[in-house]
Amino acid sequence: MVEGSYLIQSDCLEYLKTLEDDSVDLVLTDPPYFIGFDGGKGWDSQWKTEEEYLAWCADWTLECIRVLKPNRMLVVWGTLKTETFIKYKLQTSADARLTPQNEIIWSYNWGGRSQDNFVRKHEYAWCWSKGKKFLFNDAEIRIERKVKKNMNLEKKLLKEFKDNNPNATKKEIAKHKEEHIDPKTLFAQGTIPTCIWEKNNHTTSKDFCGWHPTTKNLDVLERLIRGYTNPGDTVLDIFMGSGSTAIAAERCGRNYIGCERDGEYYTKSLERIRDQNPLFQAMEPTHMELETFMQLM
Ligand SMILES: C[S@@+](CC[C@H](N)C(=O)[O-])C[C@H]1O[C@@H](n2cnc3c(N)ncnc32)[C@H](O)[C@@H]1O
Repeated sequence: MVEGSYLIQSDCLEYLKTLEDDSVDLVLTDPPYFIGFDGGKGWDSQWKTEEEYLAWCADWTLECIRVLKPNRMLVVWGTLKTETFIKYKLQTSADARLTPQNEIIWSYNWGGRSQDNFVRKHEYAWCWSKGKKFLFNDAEIRIERKVKKNMNLEKKLLKEFKDNNPNATKKEIAKHKEEHIDPKTLFAQGTIPTCIWEKNNHTTSKDFCGWHPTTKNLDVLERLIRGYTNPGDTVLDIFMGSGSTAIAAERCGRNYIGCERDGEYYTKSLERIRDQNPLFQAMEPTHMELETFMQLM
């Protein structure tokens, strides 16, 4: 069982080793895509070949499955800019413990654009459940319906009344409709959104983090977290980057744990998270990190 919220500076595989089996309620993570886009830091081009990259992905994915509770969701961000993620999807779905459940498309319309083709402005959040069933907290993610009046239902209820009361007058039918049929109320809970979500990372917004090249949108993360967890649950992100998953989890009243290897991102993300929650604590360095530190002294 994981308690509280933590962020640690660590390699993800080292960090995952410290977590118990079946201990987190949602894995929501955004790995390097291996497309060379990392603001010049090099973390997105650490592998010589696609095979090497996919083997590394298999390592952390297996660990994420191990630490995820049964009937909960593994959500991994990716792109089809290259076809590497088709291979990642196939290798991940081959794990008998997982069931592919959804493909959320985050679309946006900002940033640079090519002049010689339609502009690619979307990324995917692929969702697998551990087991066949999974928690879906629809009450927290429903949105207002565009069409509020359920015409089909109104017709059906009127027909039922007329069938049961064949001699009813027009006045009686109108009275029954007014007093007993209010199809709008049946839509009061709103509707479940589709899997295509358009949200921009507005550069003027307080939520936008200008110092990490691949910051995810907080509203999108919040919706994923609300939909796939209950309040008080724990969300794991092993590639925290600028801390977006942590901030989104905090806003949803969920705990979060995660790691980021890069020292600069780690320090800045702690500041970003503390802006959200001044009481947030960073985790003590792991034993292994202390050892490395001592060797460097
Ligand atoms: C795609 S970014 C995540 C961005 C994040 N979703 C956000 O909104 O800011 C991937 C992050 O993984 C980190 N990273 C790369 N290799 C890692 C490793 N082996 N262990 C931990 N973090 C790693 C990179 O430094 C980078 O910040």
